[in-house]
Amino acid sequence: MLYKNTHEAERNLLVKLDSAITAGQGAGRLLLDKDSSKIIIESKGMNDIVTEMDSASERFIIEYLKTRFPNDNFFGEELGETNNGEGGRWIIDPIDGTENYIRNIPDYTISIGYEDTNGVLALGVVYNPSQGEVFSAIRGHGSFLNGKPIQVSSVKEPSLALSIVSPPMRMHDKAPDYFKLMEAVFLQTRDVRRFGSAAQDLCYVACGRADAFYEMGLHYYDIAAGMIILSEAGGRSSAFRESEILIKDGNIVATNGFLHNWYLQQIHDIMGE
Ligand code: IPD
Repeated sequence: MLYKNTHEAERNLLVKLDSAITAGQGAGRLLLDKDSSKIIIESKGMNDIVTEMDSASERFIIEYLKTRFPNDNFFGEELGETNNGEGGRWIIDPIDGTENYIRNIPDYTISIGYEDTNGVLALGVVYNPSQGEVFSAIRGHGSFLNGKPIQVSSVKEPSLALSIVSPPMRMHDKAPDYFKLMEAVFLQTRDVRRFGSAAQDLCYVACGRADAFYEMGLHYYDIAAGMIILSEAGGRSSAFRESEILIKDGNIVATNGFLHNWYLQQIHDIMGE
């Protein structure tokens, strides 16, 4: 992709973006080369698995980026916080959609976000190795799929909307309200989909394959890269309620912007403001 008339800070971000894409693609090669029948799987909790490949992917990405940016810091799903210096912070989900990965379902991604030294998201990469799709964005410079510009859909009418839904697989106590919400959304819109990678879900809204996505209880590493890719594509993400902190509570509504208030209203009608 070409950026013209960049200032030094933007050129630095471009170098970081290209490095993140290369790191993601290298980790993706590890995932694709592994025989899924031989993957060691462990449980982290209810409906929450981790494999040796999650850890291998995260180690690969961190080592690649640390070599190039030794003062940068890292926050990954499996290895946690790694503080090296005064640089920015990389937010890594080494396999988003691990359940899909171990079953050879081609909806899993590697998600790499980056916060600048002010703690503001500055770039994001979400890479699907099975489908060869690299979603990327730098703050202020738009979003791309495999180097081509993307933008959210222009759907404004709920009856035409396609929603990506993700039931609370680790919070079964939330299931009754969630399925009431899904029924309400389903009966008023075109249809729903469930893919199994929140990072990919955000990118699908960013490129107009869907018009909205919502889920409860996600982690920051699931959504960091996808959030900036969505916003740079003209979309909007927020928490379910004004009283919540999105990157802490993880209850996310992500839309093409036009439909945002309609989805929030459905949530408030069923789950309260
Ligand atoms: C999961 C995926 C899935 C979502 C789960 C996440 P993981 O990520 O994003 O779509 O519904 O809540 O935990 O655990 O495979 O990294």
